[in-house]
Amino acid sequence: MNVTEAVKARRSIRGFKPDPVSDDKLREILEVARFAPSNCNTQPWHLTVVSGEARHKLQEAIFAEINAGKAPNPAFTPGDQGLADVYKDRQFQCAMDYYRVMGIERHERDKRTALVMKNWEFFDAPHVGFISMPLDFGPANAVDVGIYLQTLMLILVEKGLASVPQGALALYPDPVKAMGGVPEGSGILCGLSFGYEDKGERINDVIMDRAPLEETVTLIS
Ligand SMILES: Cc1cc2nc3c(=O)[nH]c(=O)nc-3n(C[C@H](O)[C@H](O)[C@H](O)COP(=O)(O)O)c2cc1C
Repeated sequence: MNVTEAVKARRSIRGFKPDPVSDDKLREILEVARFAPSNCNTQPWHLTVVSGEARHKLQEAIFAEINAGKAPNPAFTPGDQGLADVYKDRQFQCAMDYYRVMGIERHERDKRTALVMKNWEFFDAPHVGFISMPLDFGPANAVDVGIYLQTLMLILVEKGLASVPQGALALYPDPVKAMGGVPEGSGILCGLSFGYEDKGERINDVIMDRAPLEETVTLIS
């Protein structure tokens, strides 16, 4: 698989088989991902992968917070806040495409909520990663973390695995912190659930389109 093939094959996958990824395979992937570039080679990302029993306990702890009505307390402003204009339109289209594939009508609020809640079930993936960076770092450093995230997702594809990046996993950081998943002085930017795709899951049929090149690229000569 070449890079173009990996980029085109990667999609957000939200239905997984329960089979875990072997430790050896996971290490092999993480060893490659660390070659992602960063400003002054600062490598400001930190990844914590939670699997097995700890993953199930974490899900329970996050749901305990949600069910107790605890307000989300992300370390950084979530990417879906305050969207307007074309960005709002694209966010709306993304949600509509998602609901259409899942057979959910706009007025079916409970079903929509249930779908959102799947974020904190890690979409049944056997592994969930949390990517953090130092709290006093800003957007320029977040670029590095984003590059790391995409590098990791592409290697996962190359190795026959699937993933979904999740800003939602930054919203309830305390249970992750309580299990030592966030370095002192850092905050979670996003999460990444991953494992082997369950191709029989309808949720994996969502295919997101992209804006035409002219909308997002300017070529000057
Ligand atoms: C930083 C980031 C955060 C995201 N957060 C979520 C999330 O919380 N929940 C979710 O289901 N998808 C999330 N996504 C997935 C996007 O919805 C998805 O990447 C986009 O719709 C394009 O679809 P594709 O990944 O299948 O190409 C996130 C993606 C990124 C890059």
